[in-house]
Amino acid sequence: MKILAIESSCDETAVAILEVQNEELNLLSNVVFSQIDIHKKYGGVVPEIASRHHIEKITYVLEEALTNAGVGHQDIDLIACTATPGLVGSLMVGVNAAKTISLVFDKPLVMVNHIHGHIYANRLVSEFLFPALALVVSGGHTELILMKDHFEFEKLGETLDDAVGEAYDKVARVVEVGYPGGPIIDKMAKLGKPVYALPHIHLSKDSYDFSFSGLKSAVINLNHKLTQNGETVDKNDLAASFQEAVIDVLCEKTLRAAQEFKARHIIVAGGVAANSALRETLTEKVKELNGVKLSFPPFKYCTDNAAMIAVAGYYQAKKEKLMVNS
Ligand code: KG4
Ligand code: ZN
Repeated sequence: MKILAIESSCDETAVAILEVQNEELNLLSNVVFSQIDIHKKYGGVVPEIASRHHIEKITYVLEEALTNAGVGHQDIDLIACTATPGLVGSLMVGVNAAKTISLVFDKPLVMVNHIHGHIYANRLVSEFLFPALALVVSGGHTELILMKDHFEFEKLGETLDDAVGEAYDKVARVVEVGYPGGPIIDKMAKLGKPVYALPHIHLSKDSYDFSFSGLKSAVINLNHKLTQNGETVDKNDLAASFQEAVIDVLCEKTLRAAQEFKARHIIVAGGVAANSALRETLTEKVKELNGVKLSFPPFKYCTDNAAMIAVAGYYQAKKEKLMVNS
């Protein structure tokens, strides 16, 4: 069967076509139009501008994805689209496109949760072993989710304030290094040393919730204080100190949850899954949990794309008994 998926929840207009045969996934096309360059000058995504660009691009991205896959609308068996969470004006563009194709060509439609999509980006490269523990780290979300089977999600914890990607972006804005901040701070951190004392916020010792706003404020205050005192701020050292505090907390909670819930597979998902320190540290630490599998999506599937929505859409439709066999 062939799935056409649409993602438009934030600042990427994306369409992918996925073929599934006997649970084997074959990505036929994956087109992403990113608006990053448009939003860069504002230091973050401007919702109104994002929706307008989705409207301008959606038909072209759709056509390109079909052409690259060498298929027409009639060859599609299932439509999947991101329905929530996200910017409402942006989501509406993708949802309306998906509903239109579904109605005109009489194809079933599945409405996918964006976070489920990020988790299922991993399925493009790896079978899931259950129970699985998903660490979702994106620009909008930070969550630990336990999965006992496909499409069974139990939230163990989440951020009480900022998402981890959001904290990266805000720190980058304060030290004036550009947008999106995550990849830039990641690179800078490699050149610096974690010499600045910053809080590693673990909350209570058995909590799986996160909090990053205190760390973000500590970076802002430190930067402000040093600048006011006429001292030079080593931005690379500040990036390294911030990153160390983030990664320490993410890894500690993930490992503790994996042990408590006897996870056989740790799945890392979302834009921050591209972070080099998170990849290295978690890879090292998971070795201590004998035999637990660890997976990260390939870099191009970490940030928003429609391939992940197609995979999640497939498993969701199966769960909802929405479609024909693959
Ligand atoms: O998943 P995503 O594309 O969007 C949401 O669904 O929110 O994630 C985007 C976020 C941004 O905050 C970006 O700064 C962050 O992922 N990010 C990174 C890295 N690459 C992207 N954060 C830390 N290190 C990276 N290498
Ligand atoms: Zn996302």
